[in-house]
Amino acid sequence: MRKKIIAGNWKMNLDLQTAAGLAKDIVAHEGSLKCEVLLFPSFVFLESVKNILNKSKINIGAQNCSHRENGAFTGEVSAQQLKSLGIEYVLIGHSERREHYNERNEILKEKLKIALKYNLKPVFCCGEPKQIREANGQEDFVLNQLKESLFGFSATEISNIIIAYEPVWAIGTGLNATAEQASNMHAFIRKQFAKKYSDSFSAQLPILYGGSCNPSNAKELFSCPDVDGSLVGGASLNASDFLAIIQASQ
Ligand code: PGA
Repeated sequence: MRKKIIAGNWKMNLDLQTAAGLAKDIVAHEGSLKCEVLLFPSFVFLESVKNILNKSKINIGAQNCSHRENGAFTGEVSAQQLKSLGIEYVLIGHSERREHYNERNEILKEKLKIALKYNLKPVFCCGEPKQIREANGQEDFVLNQLKESLFGFSATEISNIIIAYEPVWAIGTGLNATAEQASNMHAFIRKQFAKKYSDSFSAQLPILYGGSCNPSNAKELFSCPDVDGSLVGGASLNASDFLAIIQASQ
């Protein structure tokens, strides 16, 4: 039985005070949490937020890491540095990184390699842009993302990975995928992992949905058999919305 995972991607929002306040509000409700909760603040707030989460069940991740191990790469943050802070998770391949920072599937493969080397658990984001969905090419598009970034790894290497299916047209638009669209794609992704690895590997793989998930649509999305929770952007910046999404998953 896969446990539900609700992850909050805070993106480049909040300041130190509001990030700490949000983390405290969520920790205050941790007694009622039955699912796994992950928070992804900006790099600069990782340590402060981590200290707030310290004795709670809530885990923390970074929104990105460098594809290089270390050295003269000004402004980058390495997987090893994240690990040294006690960070456990890292988002890899978010569509905003792909779009604004030109992160291609090959670079994401390098990021996965280095994240896994330092025992970070990657949340690998995939998903098609609007024009691909309109042309009904979403399955081929997502399969190619998986093939070029992920399928070179062994089952053991990627047994700590979480997949987040995030259709680009649904991110930050208020236009979430329907339960049917999410269901079909999650089942498709699971089938690809079963083909490439094994049924048992695929059966334990968490696949989150992301894209305008909010307290009103969460329950329906989470009722889909292959949807194991959500990577939440906008609605994770408000404690009561985020807690309501958590509630909807339990
Ligand atoms: P959204 O973002 O919930 O604001 O659509 C999701 C994400 O980018 O992970």
